[in-house]
Amino acid sequence: MADIYRQNGITAPQADKRVLITTFGCQMNEYDSSRMAGLLATLGYAATGEAEQADLILLNTCSVREHAAHKVYSYMGALKPLKERRPSLIIGVGGCLAQQEGQRLLDSIPHLDLVFGTDAIEKLPDLIEEALKGKRRSLTPRPQKAEIPALRPYSTPGLKAMVTVMQGCDNFCSYCVVPFVRGRERSRPACEVLEEVAALTEAGMREVTLLGQNVNSYKDPAGGLDFPGLLAKVASAPDLWRVRFTTSHPKDLSPRLVEVMASEEKVMEQLHLPVQSGSDRVLKAMRRGYSRAQYVAKVADIRSRIPGIALGTDIIVGFPGESDDDFAASLSLLDEVGYDFLFSFKYSDRPHTKALKLGGKLADDVKAARLEALQSRQRDLSLASHQKMAGQTVEVLVEGPAKKGQGQLTGRCRSGQAVNFAGPLRLRGSLVQVLVSEGLVHSLKGRLIQLEEGAIT
Ligand code: 5AD
Ligand code: SF4
Repeated sequence: MADIYRQNGITAPQADKRVLITTFGCQMNEYDSSRMAGLLATLGYAATGEAEQADLILLNTCSVREHAAHKVYSYMGALKPLKERRPSLIIGVGGCLAQQEGQRLLDSIPHLDLVFGTDAIEKLPDLIEEALKGKRRSLTPRPQKAEIPALRPYSTPGLKAMVTVMQGCDNFCSYCVVPFVRGRERSRPACEVLEEVAALTEAGMREVTLLGQNVNSYKDPAGGLDFPGLLAKVASAPDLWRVRFTTSHPKDLSPRLVEVMASEEKVMEQLHLPVQSGSDRVLKAMRRGYSRAQYVAKVADIRSRIPGIALGTDIIVGFPGESDDDFAASLSLLDEVGYDFLFSFKYSDRPHTKALKLGGKLADDVKAARLEALQSRQRDLSLASHQKMAGQTVEVLVEGPAKKGQGQLTGRCRSGQAVNFAGPLRLRGSLVQVLVSEGLVHSLKGRLIQLEEGAIT
């Protein structure tokens, strides 16, 4: 524990209290949770995984889909007996659902003590102090066009870290609540991003993922640097071996970004490029700003410049008015692009959005059947694509023992797939070459290749 404080340049206070932070949703929320943990550590809260031991329980929530919001309510319900038994326990809800619902959450959940929005994380100490005095408060300031508060994330020892470069979104896709809860786009100064990367590498991190709702809209507020420029600067950080980033809006993906990806050795061959639908009619209704043909042309260009790149995407099934033919177009796009990673969702109505008011809403069983068909097609395609990797040698950053144990190690290759292979634990934290022997749906199996410097036994 002391090491973690030293890495963060924080003087370790007496950790006499325990906090449990449960994160729902995307990587942005995971990053925010680590910032909360960093802030709470300075107040003497150590992390625990056990609700029973916690003095403070915080839920960092998501509201991007209805299902995510429901999960928060049921988790809150499960905490009720604990709060009844131990009234001194403080329970707080933060993140996107908190931002969206605010005071309504306090009104509908009597055992909830505090609510803090996405831009109120740094106010947590005040809110906790008031809650300890019995004052229940909700603080959800509207995300400002101003800068993102520079809270240091709490870095647990490890190899991989996330760094936010921008937040918010100005795109207003017709189904999406993000611009309403996360607010307008704003970027962090490049120097701050670079400082954070330097601190992380000093603490032993070797891979960073740059985060933003649409990283391609990045603009350094202190200068003219755009995202490709920032990416190149991050890639030049000494002691950093690997850089990934997410998410890229297809309409904003520039030839310069592809250029930087192709030329910078440290930028991994992996790209998440959410398409949302394969049908032009639906893409238009979603207000995505590109056609299927334009998307496919960008993919062709990327593939020709960066051979072996793994592409990922998000697809929504059952958008209002989606016909059988529209859905068939999404299915056929999977075949045409050949994705390695797919995140797929049933459309759900979200507050404030344009799609909420559209006619042609589909029944849940239709959406469920389409989701299953899409996922099953993708399973076949992922398997075929991974099987094709058999016989290739891939570079793996060794993360540690594989879940299944038995002397197996695990890590990710440059294009992002998990690779499992037998090897000694001392390789943790190093880059090794692995010969892929078998491709599975979600991972690759391989054999360690002897390193030049000596035998690996
Ligand atoms: N219904 C279903 N999926 C949604 N997403 C965003 N809004 C909705 C919604 N209303 C999905 C999109 C996005 C991902 C983060 O969540 O695919 O890329
Ligand atoms: Fe939502 Fe569209 Fe912005 Fe992505 S680009 S966060 S889907 S509004």
